[in-house]
Amino acid sequence: MYDSEFWDDVYKKGFIPWSDENKDNFFVKKIIQDVEPERSAEILDYGCGEGILGKYFLERGFKVDFAEISKIQVNALRKKFGNRSTVYAVNEPQDIEHKYDLIICSSVMHHIEPQRWGSFLKQFRELLKKGGVLWVSGLDENDKIFEQYHGIAPATGHKCWTINDLGRIAEKNGFEISASYVQDIKIDAFETPRMTRVFCLKPKTKQLKDKSRPASEGNNDDLSSQITTQSILDKKRLQR
Ligand SMILES: C[S@@+](CC[C@H](N)C(=O)[O-])C[C@H]1O[C@@H](n2cnc3c(N)ncnc32)[C@H](O)[C@@H]1O
Repeated sequence: MYDSEFWDDVYKKGFIPWSDENKDNFFVKKIIQDVEPERSAEILDYGCGEGILGKYFLERGFKVDFAEISKIQVNALRKKFGNRSTVYAVNEPQDIEHKYDLIICSSVMHHIEPQRWGSFLKQFRELLKKGGVLWVSGLDENDKIFEQYHGIAPATGHKCWTINDLGRIAEKNGFEISASYVQDIKIDAFETPRMTRVFCLKPKTKQLKDKSRPASEGNNDDLSSQITTQSILDKKRLQR
């Protein structure tokens, strides 16, 4: 489990390629294009890092709150945005009490163990207002750098996962996939662009079919996603 101390260390070391202000903000463009959030919409940037995505919306007049696991980042974000926004120190989405029209979770889930994705998604669902949407991005299984480093994140040195199976897990946890995109994103720190997958997830309106299922069954779904991701890596290694 990669906890707040782990992420504080990452920020202390200072190699944080996601904080590149010049990175192509494909994620934001897609949200604007597909959702066109109303100015009155309340937005949460979850696992916001330096808060680059949330800041984009803040500067355009939206109400934006931020959430981070790294205490170093929480302090920095409170200095930057604290007069206009709430900055939550969190371990999981359930640490937040407010509800939002739009939740952005960019490049966070590939750092969270797949066994926890189902639980995270359920918690996000609880944070959405009626009609609200969740946008999640992460590494695609065809990301060249993921393959090159055998699934170890170059910036943090820890194991990461691709999020290709997240859509399937989301569908089992009360969401429908309203859009799914793949895009290369150029980040200055890497020679090769990062291949990023984006899901737009909307809560299903009907009652969850598997509500009566024991929690352990749901966990099996999450576990199988880890196996799938690992087997993609193994397959790629064999192909070399
Ligand atoms: C790769 S960075 C992405 C930052 C930002 N979302 C962006 O796209 O620029 C991942 C961020 O997720 C945060 N994080 C990791 N696990 C988290 C968790 N369980 N809850 C909240 N934030 C988390 C890390 O501290 C880090 O800032």
